[in-house]
Amino acid sequence: MDYFEYRSGELFAEGVPVRRIAREVGTPAYIYSLATLKRHYRVFDQAFARLSHLVCFSMKSNSNLAVLRAFVKEGGGFDIVSAGELFRALKAGADPKKIVFSGVGKKKAEIEYALNAGILMFNVESEQELTVLNEVARGVEKKAPISLRVNPDVDPKTHPYISTGMKKSKFGIDIKRSLEVYKRALSLTHLEVIGVDCHIGSQLTTIPPFVDALSRVKVFVEALRKEGARIRYLDLGGGLGIRYKDEEPPHPEEYAGALIQGLRGLDVTLILEPGRVVVGNAGILVTEVLYLKEGEEKTFVIVDGGMNDLIRPALYGSYQAIRPVVEGKGEMIVADVVGPICESGDFFAKDREIPRPQEGDLLAVMSAGAYGFTMSSNYNSRPRAPEILVDGDNFHVVRKRESFEDLISGETIPPILQ
Ligand code: LLP
Repeated sequence: MDYFEYRSGELFAEGVPVRRIAREVGTPAYIYSLATLKRHYRVFDQAFARLSHLVCFSMKSNSNLAVLRAFVKEGGGFDIVSAGELFRALKAGADPKKIVFSGVGKKKAEIEYALNAGILMFNVESEQELTVLNEVARGVEKKAPISLRVNPDVDPKTHPYISTGMKKSKFGIDIKRSLEVYKRALSLTHLEVIGVDCHIGSQLTTIPPFVDALSRVKVFVEALRKEGARIRYLDLGGGLGIRYKDEEPPHPEEYAGALIQGLRGLDVTLILEPGRVVVGNAGILVTEVLYLKEGEEKTFVIVDGGMNDLIRPALYGSYQAIRPVVEGKGEMIVADVVGPICESGDFFAKDREIPRPQEGDLLAVMSAGAYGFTMSSNYNSRPRAPEILVDGDNFHVVRKRESFEDLISGETIPPILQ
């Protein structure tokens, strides 16, 4: 359930008409529902209540400070993949002891920043990274807490761009080699192996790949313990999918139930890194119809939001539902909903059946709370959209629309060109 509903034919975000927000802040604009964010977080967290666990929200999916702050207040931690994300998490008041650092390409300066911040652990993705981590830790006279990210070679049956746990993927360490890698970690003086980690992909809509991965990783944890390792954490990553169209992903309760069952007998603190499932359906992108261009072959609904604002359809061919902000009586048409950017890939929907809109109408692109704003850019010198947080009958601009000045901030014309 989310809090985007029609009341008397008009789309509301909680208690606020979307139309009102659009009138006040302009379009395109991202709108998040605080009640939905909290509800999704709590449902996910409580599904694991029986177990010692920590939810580390994967902030690459949505890293707005206010959104992060809402999760901090719920007691959540964060899965980060860069120094910039660490900076944001700390700004939002996160407890460093609830932060895990993933990613295949951590730089020395990033590692040092995270060591000094005192994060919970580094999810190490290669042997080479072990060496660098050890070196940097020695330099700052600390021991780096690590977990090894193993690649369990499980097919998550999702889009290839977001499958991460298969043999041919760049992520993690081949599970067959991981015992050797662990031994190498043991030989390094400034590392402490405290966990095992895996993440197999994103937008998974069935349970078996998760359970398969868990059973493989479990065998590895047991093997490590035989070697005398004190493995305290098992991080199973994120990846639980949401409904964009007609998918029927498992409910977090069902997902948690299967994992808890699979973990039986293994005494560890479970770490989870959900992103999309918490924020995806807690946000929409509202955009205005600029032109209705009716050709012989095709009809185009040209809107003021583009692929620079929401790139998922262009990048993955993914489906985002599109709804009118005010329900009208227009007959149904089949159209492409496209943005103003000079690329054929700039579309939100192709051959979509929608009620015929008029110029000036508002459309809501649904399920835009995850990998929406965070993947946006300034392509075509378009200022990035504002982010709005709705709380009951109120709304707050939690990131203002960029200005033209923001577009050129940091750029200079060197003297030779003056
Ligand atoms: N943990 C790790 C190590 C990850 O790489 C990811 C996502 C997550 C957690 C969170 O996964 P989630 O729960 O959100 O599925 N831009 C793509 C998704 C990329 C996912 C990358 N990694 C999209 O828009 O579909």
